[in-house]
Amino acid sequence: MDLIASVRLALAQTWAFYFLAHSFHWNVRGPLFAPFHKLFGDLYEDLHGAVDDLAERLRTLGVLAPSSLDEILAGATITFTAPPAAADMVVQLLAANAIAIAAIDAANEAAIASGNDGLANFLQERLDAHAKWGWMLQATLDPDA
Ligand SMILES: [Fe+2]
Repeated sequence: MDLIASVRLALAQTWAFYFLAHSFHWNVRGPLFAPFHKLFGDLYEDLHGAVDDLAERLRTLGVLAPSSLDEILAGATITFTAPPAAADMVVQLLAANAIAIAAIDAANEAAIASGNDGLANFLQERLDAHAKWGWMLQATLDPDA
């Protein structure tokens, strides 16, 4: 996959992950509402910032950023369902995090192959952020994690 296509896919998966986290922030219910609402809020805010950065990286590469929801979601494989129970939300977010990591990792490889150190550095920082989200989501599910 070429560099621009890989950044577009990283943006698509990050956007889908962002919306999933934001919708769970809105729709979480149950006795642990407050901590889940806060965790999902922190997650969607981080992802929303990453969406902005990824779209602006496309502009830096000389192409237009997506201008419709269909376009920004093109290629995204993160799926949406009716809001599940809170613990199942965390499971879905962990799966979405893994999908986003795979897309960003591929974009990082393409950036390295293109000699674009600045973009690779940004994508590696995102991989680091996603690793931390993976830890926090897993620790939410499993007290032995
Ligand atoms: Fe909110």
